[in-house]
Amino acid sequence: MKMFDVYSVYDVELVKGQGAYVFDKAGNKYLDFYGGHAVISIGHTHPHYVSRLTGQIEKLVFYSNSVVNTLQDQLAEKLAKVSGIEGYDLFLVNSGAEANENALKLASFGNGKSKIIALKNGFHGRTSAAVNATDNKKIQAALNKGFEVEYHAIDDVDSIVASIQKNDACAVILEAIQGIGGMDCITAEALAKISATCKEHNTALILDEVQAGYGRSGSFFAYEIADIKPDIISMAKGMGNGFPIGGLLINTESYKAKKSMLGTTFGGNHLACVAGLAVLEVIEKENLIHNSKHLGEQLANSIKDIPEVKQLKGRGLMIGAEFDFPIKELRKHLVLNHSLFTGSSKNPNMLRLLPPLNINPSHADEFIEKLKAGIKSYTNKTMATA
Ligand SMILES: Cc1ncc(COP(=O)(O)O)c(C=O)c1O
Repeated sequence: MKMFDVYSVYDVELVKGQGAYVFDKAGNKYLDFYGGHAVISIGHTHPHYVSRLTGQIEKLVFYSNSVVNTLQDQLAEKLAKVSGIEGYDLFLVNSGAEANENALKLASFGNGKSKIIALKNGFHGRTSAAVNATDNKKIQAALNKGFEVEYHAIDDVDSIVASIQKNDACAVILEAIQGIGGMDCITAEALAKISATCKEHNTALILDEVQAGYGRSGSFFAYEIADIKPDIISMAKGMGNGFPIGGLLINTESYKAKKSMLGTTFGGNHLACVAGLAVLEVIEKENLIHNSKHLGEQLANSIKDIPEVKQLKGRGLMIGAEFDFPIKELRKHLVLNHSLFTGSSKNPNMLRLLPPLNINPSHADEFIEKLKAGIKSYTNKTMATA
């Protein structure tokens, strides 16, 4: 048997991670400003995380949701404390797509409608409803197109509002900072207008914080630039620092819990809860929301001075650096010749940076040195072969 061939991969086999670094099987050390796609929030193999998970593995890894699991209650309480978000119930799942799938389903259960309003360039996952709400025809099968979706530009709040006013949508789903789409940010004013119109028309506002949440944007959730209270918030990537866990925060004023409406076998298992708790404990103890904001600003200032970078997008440690040429080959060159992992996006010219939230100024300096050296040697190489 061989693996189903669905990914383009770099010819690098990683066998170890430590803080902001990963190591291949030959012992080469790479600076990780990609975090395995925004997943590594507190750094690879953080000692507190390792000890919490190891301790739980020795006790109990899994039991189903048919018995009391107070680790879930501890996680919900810690999440409320560290995020400062109140008036929500938590439902635990295993991934970002699953969180959005349940969010969309819950919205439709709540108001009986089925149309979705989403944003152009948005990404919500690959399960049936989540992928239909994602603006990418290439990843949608005929089976997925089971309900109507209207896509609007992130900067066209009037058309989003007009669409909600038609009164036939069960939900608006959006990312406050579009990750894969290219790091465009919605404004606080637009969020406030959308939220108010959703309330007037019994339409759920779902904030997809799968990538931008958990401190990445410099606040716990990226939507917090606006004074709004979404009906549902979906979360995943940074939540378990690599352990698969996702969740929905459900506004208790919008939804009353009903038994059996939602369910999962693996979601909220003992080990996942402990991974989630360990991440929040480190975010709190090491003041990582503050670090994300301040180091993100510092990093953005240094990147701005690189002449080949034409524009910066994003917030906190979720930075998009737009070049005036496609970055696919530069990104590969950075991995293979400068031991630096970065990310990409739908915008072919954009390098997406998603380092762990606990990087320090010397990691930021090292990144800038590697990036500058990489751009220089890549440009020389392409000029020599032109
Ligand atoms: C904003 C956003 N939502 C949802 C998802 C889907 O998450 P998962 O791959 O865990 O299903 C992603 C993944 O990249 C994402 O960036």
